[in-house]
Amino acid sequence: MKRGGPVIAVDGPAAAGKGTLAKRLAQALSLPYLDTGLLYRAVGRLALDAGQDPAAPAEAFAQKLSPEDLARTDLRAPEVAQAASKVAAQPAVRQALVETQRRFAGERGAVLDGRDIGTVIFPDADVKLFITASPATRALRRFLQLGGDQSAPNAQAQVAEMEEALKVRDAADSGRKTAPLQVAVDAQVIETDTLSAEDVLAQALAFARRRLGQ
Ligand code: CDP
Repeated sequence: MKRGGPVIAVDGPAAAGKGTLAKRLAQALSLPYLDTGLLYRAVGRLALDAGQDPAAPAEAFAQKLSPEDLARTDLRAPEVAQAASKVAAQPAVRQALVETQRRFAGERGAVLDGRDIGTVIFPDADVKLFITASPATRALRRFLQLGGDQSAPNAQAQVAEMEEALKVRDAADSGRKTAPLQVAVDAQVIETDTLSAEDVLAQALAFARRRLGQ
């Protein structure tokens, strides 16, 4: 497909900091940004709202996703993440969302974050990044991102619970048959346990600029 600008794929496991990085990269390179996880979260949310098991066929929800569905403020809840992972394992749901993602980048190029951007959606992406960190680091980041208080008496138990939930989701996302989470052969892996968000951005930007010849 002919594109009006570069495509930058940012993939990786749950709560690795893909969104933070992708947003900043998009700003630095003046590209549009798409959080593709939101598409699956919105489908999962609609399935839950309909009283449906998210493992049951959900492509009808994916086919009629609206901008309002994506703008909902309740898509970040942990139960929606689990539902998203279940609907995302369905090939028909993924198929229904492919064109939306490709079209988004068609006009001006884009930065997209997700699980299969560099492997399935844009195997020919100009820049591929794979952002990762240990489950413990990712659980703590997600706990804080969701407004958790580290000094609360049950904070440790809550972080541990979050770590378990992330591991379950990672295993499902990596183990599914269609578009599993995996490192694209030509991706730059950035292991972020000991890096600040600024460090990650600096490394990613340096790599992207080299690839883009800027
Ligand atoms: O923010 P976090 O990394 O926790 O998750 P997300 O990116 O919002 O994605 C939620 C779920 O959607 C993931 O666990 C995947 O199952 C699914 N997903 C996917 O399959 N493919 C994508 N491109 C993006 C998300």
